[in-house]
Amino acid sequence: MVRVEPARLSDAAAIHDLVTYWADHGDMLHRPIAEIYEAIRDFKVARHEGRVVGTGSLHIMGSDLAEVRSLAVAADAQLHGVGAAIVAACVADARTFGLERVFALTYKPGFFEKQGFRVANVMEFPQKVWNECVRCPFFTNCKEVAVVQDLNGADLSVPMTRDA
Ligand SMILES: CC(C)(COP(=O)(O)OP(=O)(O)OC[C@H]1O[C@@H](n2cnc3c(N)ncnc32)[C@H](O)[C@@H]1OP(=O)(O)O)[C@@H](O)C(=O)NCCC(=O)NCCS
Repeated sequence: MVRVEPARLSDAAAIHDLVTYWADHGDMLHRPIAEIYEAIRDFKVARHEGRVVGTGSLHIMGSDLAEVRSLAVAADAQLHGVGAAIVAACVADARTFGLERVFALTYKPGFFEKQGFRVANVMEFPQKVWNECVRCPFFTNCKEVAVVQDLNGADLSVPMTRDA
């Protein structure tokens, strides 16, 4: 059984390997391992019999916005719902934090549309464009597509079962 759970520091190398593998294939951007250690609290891993078969992170970018980053599923674990489960875990976290929108920049907009995202104009996320994209070597020739999910402030409170 595959379980999606918060990453541990000991998962950083496996996360880095997955991201590097797909970045080398041109499917996503590289992330240095030092950055993965720094952001380890943002990361989820999908674990199967102790092995990390998928990863993804939720990076908070402001009072109402977070980004799903570094989503990667091992080649031999694809199309079994792992990517969808990691995105669902990130979106659930975003709701818990009270965020209003979750976005991603991706070469796979069709996958994100199946997870309830819609294609958006990247300029809806100026904090991403002007803080980070401008430093990216692909900025002037970016082929990534922006996708976003509006979370509509769902009520996550749990009613008490007895009188206070
Ligand atoms: C994209 C990726 C994360 C999908 O993960 P996955 O575990 O294989 O996908 P899932 O099995 O959870 O797929 C969920 C649904 O999305 C669909 N889907 C998967 N990949 C898709 C794609 N590239 N385009 C469109 N739909 C896709 C599946 O068919 C499935 O559809 P269904 O709900 O109708 O059955 C995975 O292919 C991957 O790691 N790719 C390399 C890295 C990458 O591109 N990351 C995304 C960059 S942000």
